[in-house]
Amino acid sequence: MQFIEISIDVSWLTFFAVHLNSFWSSIVDCLFIVVSFHGWEPQQFNAIVALEKILITFTGAKEIEQMKKQVVNFLMMFFFIGTAVAPMMTASAGTISFATPQSSVADTNLYQFMPFPMGAAVGIARMKNNAKYSEVVSKEFNSITAENAMKFRSLHPAENTFNWADADYLVEFAQKNGKRLHGHTLNWYQYLPAWVTNFSGDSIAWENMLKTHIQTVVAHFKGKVASWDVVNEYFNDDGTIRPSVWVKNLGPDYIARCFQYAHEADPDAILFYNDYGHEYSSAKRTAIGKLINAFKARNIPIHGIGMQFHMTYTQSDANINAAMAFAAGTGLKVHLSELDIRLNTNKVQGFVFNETLAAQQADRYKFVVQAYNAAVPKAQQFGITTWNVGDADSWVPSWQGVPDYPLPFDANYLRKPAYKAIIEGGK
Ligand code: XIL
Repeated sequence: MQFIEISIDVSWLTFFAVHLNSFWSSIVDCLFIVVSFHGWEPQQFNAIVALEKILITFTGAKEIEQMKKQVVNFLMMFFFIGTAVAPMMTASAGTISFATPQSSVADTNLYQFMPFPMGAAVGIARMKNNAKYSEVVSKEFNSITAENAMKFRSLHPAENTFNWADADYLVEFAQKNGKRLHGHTLNWYQYLPAWVTNFSGDSIAWENMLKTHIQTVVAHFKGKVASWDVVNEYFNDDGTIRPSVWVKNLGPDYIARCFQYAHEADPDAILFYNDYGHEYSSAKRTAIGKLINAFKARNIPIHGIGMQFHMTYTQSDANINAAMAFAAGTGLKVHLSELDIRLNTNKVQGFVFNETLAAQQADRYKFVVQAYNAAVPKAQQFGITTWNVGDADSWVPSWQGVPDYPLPFDANYLRKPAYKAIIEGGK
């Protein structure tokens, strides 16, 4: 359970050495430090560094020699506390959690541990207004997906109006921070503006509208967005085609034309079919498999399969493995595109997160990552994306109508046991 990550700079050591004068004061200081590492804000760190500079100014060469010795003593004490005292404190002090250290400490990045790209879906308002959120996104992930900003209603709110501002904000963020940006989604039966759902044109006008939307969007992001979910959720869970305004007005084969239009607009883009339920519906898997085979036979450009994986913590190993084996068998790139693992399966109002649930959730995260990594050949591993970052950002509570805690970070962006489990699963 213990998961302590320590980042310490020399100025810190020097500062604490200055006032480590006796054995007892060093014990007190070390305890103080261990607690500080997990709870301090950046301003407090800065204040300590400033104080340290003043002390060094008033300290002579002799004292510096003395300080060096004390640094060694201090380090020994620090590691003693890290390995022996901290776990005891975890057990006794409920509010200090060493299992989920503070993510603002400059230490590790999730994606650097992973053998494939690791992404998160992000909301634009949070990216702009919540510094902690954007910090965690840029630190922990190397791929991002717009949670909503590239959907039809966001980009194309009126027939002759395209609104690029939010999505372009993300493009700029991705470029500045060296992140891959995955496009989601060119066509879906949901998140449509009223002008589309109320559209009264004939099939030629519908076709024109579909094509214009796809090609304007793909062209706008060409060279900035390298991959797209072209069509989202075309099938029902039983494998039949979902009724939608698109199927109704254009017929079921409109899906093939979506891929062709996207490919024409950006021949380099990696094009995905994205859906949910692979882990529980073999009928849906079969339908998706048939679609992919038909596309291949007709030379319709499709390069990837997105499996959303909005799953429950009760999902079985066998079902998860079946989804991975199926996706690997398509020979296409495989993206676990919207991973979250919900806990409140009985839909209890007032449901609270606890350590047992944390461990069960971590176990599933680990299993999913392991199963993906084992079943999907390297060349097909597009990566794993969680559907947002912290529990308070998740769409699951509003979707399910009850509290839930489905993501690897908690509401304060502290790493939950699931975080470490993802890393373990990628080993
Ligand atoms: C969800 C978003 O998370 C919500 O904020 C929005 O209100 C509705 O859409 N499958 C998908 C995603 O492909 O686009 C959905 O995202 C979640 C289900």
